Amino acid sequence: MIIGIPTEIKQGENRVAITPAGVHSLTSGGHTVTVQSGAGRGSGITDQEYVAAGAELVDSAAEVWQRAELILKVKEPLTEEYQYLREDLCLFTYLHLASAPDLTRALIQAKSTALGYETVQTDEGELPLLTPMSEVAGKLAVQVGGHYLAQHQGGRGVLLGGVPGVPPAEVVIIGCGTVGFNAAQVAMGMGAHVTILDINHDRLRHLAEIMHGSTATVYSNPYNIARSVAYADLLIGSVLIPGARAPKIVTEEMVKKMKSGAVIIDVAVDQGGCIATIEPTSHAQPTYVKYDVVHYAVPNMPAAVPRTSTFALTNATLPYVGAIANLGLDAAMQQYPELSRGLNVIAGEIVHPAVAEAYGRQ
Ligand SMILES: NC(=O)c1ccc[n+]([C@@H]2O[C@H](COP(=O)([O-])OP(=O)(O)OC[C@H]3O[C@@H](n4cnc5c(N)ncnc54)[C@H](O)[C@@H]3O)[C@@H](O)[C@H]2O)c1
Repeated sequence: MIIGIPTEIKQGENRVAITPAGVHSLTSGGHTVTVQSGAGRGSGITDQEYVAAGAELVDSAAEVWQRAELILKVKEPLTEEYQYLREDLCLFTYLHLASAPDLTRALIQAKSTALGYETVQTDEGELPLLTPMSEVAGKLAVQVGGHYLAQHQGGRGVLLGGVPGVPPAEVVIIGCGTVGFNAAQVAMGMGAHVTILDINHDRLRHLAEIMHGSTATVYSNPYNIARSVAYADLLIGSVLIPGARAPKIVTEEMVKKMKSGAVIIDVAVDQGGCIATIEPTSHAQPTYVKYDVVHYAVPNMPAAVPRTSTFALTNATLPYVGAIANLGLDAAMQQYPELSRGLNVIAGEIVHPAVAEAYGRQ
């Protein structure tokens, strides 16, 4: 199979969809890996490293897209890439289609096969291709939040960990999945006071057990969310309903009542965001202030740490890419049933239930 790796073009995106080890694994199996020259630069991977691992280099994105049967990317195709979509192309990348109507339309029209990393889901409900980036984003959310709490960044001027005699910051995390759990770990480690909310009792129970009760776990409902948001110095949004748009569980009224200079990091912005006042931002201009609250809503946070993120992502994607290349998509989905849940669009139809529901289709 010919596997193509274009350079990511989303603003601030420095990740790449394959490492030299991934190239080596695929080319050893007899496949061709076509990499756009410079694709690895942002992650500190040189063209020479790819070539040494067996890749062929091409100069332009058009060449990669046109030659490849399977395109591996990190972020969803942007408008300038829609022209490359075609019927006999399989695309494997983060898609987040429920909040991307233009891309959904382009994939339907082109009749391409599109698998979204974020909806590959095991029978147990695990999301193996979202997990590594969620781990990165969760840890980063606290790091970034601490930065914007500084007064010269527009924040309240509160130190996350406090000092003896002065209480630490109140960090409120909504959604206790991979992002929320990792954020809680870092916030705790920095000495902040952490409250975490979820609707899943097992997740709250697990967190309470391993944190030995040092994190406040709260059942998520509108009443408890309103109370918790009101005392937050740093609010982290990390809810997910796989494939669906995030529910806006923090209302505009709740944001209006937040402390002046508080910071919101809505990690769930890639699924539309779970905070009513959130608008997507970018690494170039990551924040804006509304109702005296700093809002951060970068949909590709892991791009800020591409060295860590590229390797973490490709460790997780490579077994699936290998299976698709070696067996073809149908047989690969039989070997890995979770891959079939990754299918979002095929032959002009939306086939993922949550994505279809987002567009009022069956
Ligand atoms: N911005 C970025 O760069 C970035 C990076 C990675 C992940 N994400 C996003 O972060 C979000 C969370 O990802 P995850 O891997 O942690 O998902 P996850 O499935 O592990 O966790 C989501 C949690 O949200 C909980 N939840 C659902 N509805 C809720 C509600 N009403 N109130 C409270 N909790 C609720 C679920 O029970 C679950 O525990 C996703 O939207 C994901 O796409 C964004």
